[in-house]
Parts: sequence; C-alpha cells; structure tokens
Amino acid sequence: MKKESYETSAYRYLVDQAMEAVKRTYSPYSHFGVGAALEDQEGRIWLGCNIENAAYGPSNCAERTAIFKAVSEGVNSFRALAIVARKEGEEGITEEMTPPCGVCRQVLSEFCSPDMPVVLANRSGEIEIYLLEELLPLAFKGKNLK
Ligand code: THU
Repeated sequence: MKKESYETSAYRYLVDQAMEAVKRTYSPYSHFGVGAALEDQEGRIWLGCNIENAAYGPSNCAERTAIFKAVSEGVNSFRALAIVARKEGEEGITEEMTPPCGVCRQVLSEFCSPDMPVVLANRSGEIEIYLLEELLPLAFKGKNLK
C-alpha cells in the first residue's frame, strides 16, 4: 500500500544519496546494483551498496551494509531509508522500484521504528513511500523471546 499522505518530494535528497551509493556496488554476478541511504536521528546519512561474493551466499544487500556500518559506529536510531537499483548496461537507475528483501526487512525492524518511512524511487523520478511495518507486519522482535 502506497502511503499517499507522505510528501514524496521531501525525500528527494535521500534518494539522491542512494543514487550515489549504488555507484559503489560490487555485483559482478547478478549485474544488479543496489544503493541504500539510511538517515539517522542526527541527520547523518549512512550509505550502503550490495557486495556480492563468488560463493553467492556471503553476499550482502545494500540496506544491511548501510545499517551495519551505522550500528558498528555506535548509531542505532534512524529516521528514513531510501533504496534504488541499477542494472548493468542500462542508463541510470531501474524503472522498477526496488523493495528491500525479507532478510533486510527483519534486520531493519531490529533497529528502526515500525513507522519509519522506506523510500523507493525509479528512473522516471517517481517515489513511493512505505512504512516499515507495512513491509514487515508482525515482525519477530526481542520481546518475543521473553
Ligand atoms: N539486493 C540488495 O542489495 N537489496 C535488496 O533488498 C534486494 C537484493 C541485492 C542482492 C544481490 O547482490 C542483488 O541485489 C541481486 O539479488
């Protein structure tokens, strides 16, 4: 469900940062680059790209690269995330939106509030915004372990 209530143009700056992040993709196997820009509560932006591996399994998604960078530097409170993708051989970012994979949704839900906006963008300049809880309803959290 697209959140029409959000002012999508307000997140253009974060999409621009995700477009910077995708330039650093290491994706020689899928030829599908992903860039993520994660803004923390102080307004700092953490960039992440996907980093693939010849053994495939150890590959890391752009969103997790960004959040692991931040958390490992002591930052664990976030405001918004933007994601874009690029297919090798194509000009610019993809025309299809790129939603975060299920594993990344679970990792995000550990550190980000359920109402954090996840901003998707495409080549035509369209922006879609989803809340994290829309992308991962009934997330498994620490409280479930109690
Ligand atoms: N990928 C991401 O970086 N983020 C996602 O949420 C979806 C998938 C990457 C993983 C892999 O390197 C490539 O895209 C193709 O699946």
